[in-house]
Amino acid sequence: MSRMTLALFDDPPREAREPLGPGAFVLPGFALPFVDALLPAIDALTARAPFRHLVTPGGFTMSVALTNCGALGWTSDRRGYRYSATDPDSGLPWPPMPGTFARLAREAAAVAGFDGFVPDACLVNRYAPGARLSLHQDKDEHDYGAPIVSVSLGMPAVFLFGGLARTDKAVRVPLAHGDVVVWGGEDRLRYHGVLPLKEEPHPLLGALRINLTFRKAA
Ligand code: SIN
Ligand code: FE2
Repeated sequence: MSRMTLALFDDPPREAREPLGPGAFVLPGFALPFVDALLPAIDALTARAPFRHLVTPGGFTMSVALTNCGALGWTSDRRGYRYSATDPDSGLPWPPMPGTFARLAREAAAVAGFDGFVPDACLVNRYAPGARLSLHQDKDEHDYGAPIVSVSLGMPAVFLFGGLARTDKAVRVPLAHGDVVVWGGEDRLRYHGVLPLKEEPHPLLGALRINLTFRKAA
């Protein structure tokens, strides 16, 4: 393999996108230039709003730990799923969304064809080995006109991207540190999930995967 080819693998072009559907794309490595700013900001916000394992309305404790930043944060308890302006654990507003987070989300959305994306919610998911997310739709947002922007950091994962019905076959999409997935338009309500994580420690994050999902919730 030539040095040129290796260089291309090291540094995917910023406009590169792999389609998963007419309005859904993987942007390989798109978040890599942001990582140095993202990691300390995640530490700062989780000091204020710690990760927690939420309980679903059905009474199951999620294996993925969650917190939020931005004007609205997603929460769940026995009464249901909802967005809230305050952290139910502290009663305080969620930490504000750092400017770099919003910029990354806006730029990634634009590469996928969604200009002018201004998220008001960022879910921060933490996966330890074995943690998984079962197939679901992101449908607690009021505005399905805005896409979902999902940023993967740390350990690799296999993302499942299904159809508009739960029983539709899902494709398996390997996601690495720095990859971004955007889905919107006619793909906005596609079912998706994450297979149980294998223990494949990452040099920066150890045996963890952090996922940021940006949404326009209000
Ligand atoms: C989500 O569906 O909200 C998160 C997906 C992921 O962790 O990649
Ligand atoms: Fe989701």
